[in-house]
Amino acid sequence: MTQTHPGPVLPGLLDTETIRKDFPILHRTVHGGKPLVYLDNAASSHKPRQVLDALNDYYEQHHSNVHRGVHVLAEEATALYEGARDKVAAFINAPSRDEVIFTKNASESLNLVANMLGWADEPYRVDARTEIVITEMEHHSNIVPWQLLAQRTGAELKWFGLTDDGRLDLSDIDRIITERTKVVSFVLVSNVLGTLNPVDRIVRRAQEVGALVVIDASQAAPHMRVDVQSLGADFVAFTGHKMCGPTGIGVLWGRQELLEDLPPFLGGGEMIETVTMSSSTYAAAPYKFEAGTPPIAQAVGLGAAVDYLSGIGMEKIAAHEHAITRYALDRLAEVPDLRIIGPVTGEDRGATISFTLGDIHPHDVGQVLDEQGIAVRVGHHCARPVCLRYGIPATTRASFYLYSTPAEVDALVTGLEYVRRFFG
Ligand code: ALA
Repeated sequence: MTQTHPGPVLPGLLDTETIRKDFPILHRTVHGGKPLVYLDNAASSHKPRQVLDALNDYYEQHHSNVHRGVHVLAEEATALYEGARDKVAAFINAPSRDEVIFTKNASESLNLVANMLGWADEPYRVDARTEIVITEMEHHSNIVPWQLLAQRTGAELKWFGLTDDGRLDLSDIDRIITERTKVVSFVLVSNVLGTLNPVDRIVRRAQEVGALVVIDASQAAPHMRVDVQSLGADFVAFTGHKMCGPTGIGVLWGRQELLEDLPPFLGGGEMIETVTMSSSTYAAAPYKFEAGTPPIAQAVGLGAAVDYLSGIGMEKIAAHEHAITRYALDRLAEVPDLRIIGPVTGEDRGATISFTLGDIHPHDVGQVLDEQGIAVRVGHHCARPVCLRYGIPATTRASFYLYSTPAEVDALVTGLEYVRRFFG
């Protein structure tokens, strides 16, 4: 169904018939021959053949440890690993490749920043006289590291609340971000609401008080151009597996002068300059922050993913998803009792739509959709405070990507109508 008939023609759509040929998993069927309708891209995207081939080629032809061998394979593996760093740096327009730190995921990237700041000297040190600011729409990975930091240092944790229509409530920005604020950390695109946040306004206020800005771009980097220079942040975190790359690889971009000044978090091999029994000195960034054998194959796979996405063009991907999202918002509005949790129009939002369906529990919605071959995510999506804010236990979430088609939106709507009938 979806592979041969993409559905209604909308302006801005990519050629999904061609793109879907690159993704082997999209051609499998589930539950006795039903075509897979994969609408769980905010949880994890699928991988094109180009990325799978790069991983295979790496292991079949080039694998060794990096930075520590003189033999051919060590040199080739190192060149591939460092080449992936170059690709990621270009993808996010980093001023220097040395500003790109490979981690295992966005959570680790955000934990790394929180720990750097906890152990830092002035002027970056977070302590009992300072404040940390986050928002109520963060993923747990951008809440818990800051709670831990606040508990350990005595710093005050503050946050922006949300408006009824799923936007950040910035009406009190000058009271929330103050002269005591050391760091402001917020998500660029919400993984539940889909909201695209107003970076400029927050960055401007943070800079007025000299606070560092951390952006969680996990739901943005796969879908739109993320240019770290124009964002104006100090750190940007994202993960590889949501952007056609493998699991086990994340990125932390940080401004070079900060990375030079801030202390390491994890100690171990490859992050040192010299070691004696009583003390050590550290390598320059990014290596200072990459203790131990890094995720080499995963970085190579991420490099291939970045090549793939760049080959299609991030602007074209964003336009495609915008068209699909607008179409989905229109079609979902036709489903009785469906309440969208988040912005209901296509403006300033990403391709993730959360909703409730009458009083049918989202887990039941998800299960009955799954029986029809439609994969969505249900639950609090690792952002429980959002559900608490809107007085609901959970949502059903459909999230789209570059290979999503209007026909898949139609399948979702048909599936939801069936769910309503099923539960009477
Ligand atoms: N952060 C991922 C999600 O939102 C796992 O589903």
